[in-house]
Amino acid sequence: MAYAGETAYITGGASGIGRFVATAFASKGMKVVLADRNFEGAQDVARELNKEGHQVAWAVMIDVADWEAQRAGFEAAVELLGGRIDYVFAVAGIFDVAWLPNRPKATTFEKPNLAPIDINATGALYTSSLAIQQFRRQEANKHGFHGKLVIVASGAGFYMIPAMPLYCASKTAIVGFVRSMGKLLAAENITLNAICPGIMRTAISTGDFHDTAEKRGLLVSPVTLVAAFEQLLGTDGTTGEAIEVMPDGAVIKEGAAYTNEDCRVRAEWAHQQTLQGNKVLAQSFH
Ligand SMILES: NC(=O)c1ccc[n+]([C@@H]2O[C@H](COP(=O)([O-])OP(=O)(O)OC[C@H]3O[C@@H](n4cnc5c(N)ncnc54)[C@H](O)[C@@H]3O)[C@@H](O)[C@H]2O)c1
Repeated sequence: MAYAGETAYITGGASGIGRFVATAFASKGMKVVLADRNFEGAQDVARELNKEGHQVAWAVMIDVADWEAQRAGFEAAVELLGGRIDYVFAVAGIFDVAWLPNRPKATTFEKPNLAPIDINATGALYTSSLAIQQFRRQEANKHGFHGKLVIVASGAGFYMIPAMPLYCASKTAIVGFVRSMGKLLAAENITLNAICPGIMRTAISTGDFHDTAEKRGLLVSPVTLVAAFEQLLGTDGTTGEAIEVMPDGAVIKEGAAYTNEDCRVRAEWAHQQTLQGNKVLAQSFH
């Protein structure tokens, strides 16, 4: 049992990628809390994982986009898991929506629907904030880490897909957050990485879409996905990286190259200045 005695909080655990990950790791001894707005679905997964007789999984109801709901769910998870959370997997997410009203004859302005940003970006940042606050209160575990956070972004965080503007915006936000914050957290023995899959057969899209993708060899299997996750657990020190998961395996996706030497100098100078000048950031280390 590779993960005996270790614990995880998983958002989006009722379905798809969250469910694959929860099932894979619970079968290796990890105790998991499945946090989802689909509470019945999360309970079904927990029941399935607990069927051997001893409890390894619990369900809590949250809406990741609602801070109070997430805080309450996370607090419940800390208690259910005995006060310590080794891993937080921020997986909950939705696909793009028809966000922008298109009524050329209208005389008023309508509020857009920004749900993909609220859930995929803000929701994952709420989860990250809870995770990091909890990790800072915990002693290092047997692997030497206070905790590890993995956020599921997407290939749409690197490659712009014109038909999915808010989805791309939400996933790009997460890739940018992980590549910066993950490097800062290294000093605290906390890791933060993004798993960025291509296309997987889950409830996020239709069966037809996935059937066609499968025929074209475009699907990432749950086994490949779980293996990419697993590389980041235990003693692994990778942090601040976006891991691209493709049908034939996973690689670290490098960030954009500097256009020229000036750009590199400017970015590094801005980092140093901000680090020295920002008392809030400095205080957050202690
Ligand atoms: N399936 C893919 O092809 C693919 C590819 C790349 C990235 N992703 C990302 O993987 C993550 C999981 O998606 P999936 O494919 O497993 O889809 P899914 O629909 O099967 O699962 C998503 C889960 O998130 C939950 N969820 C959605 N909004 C929530 C909210 N506001 N609060 C709490 N829970 C919420 C849903 O109830 C569901 O259980 C998403 O972030 C998605 O963007 C999916």
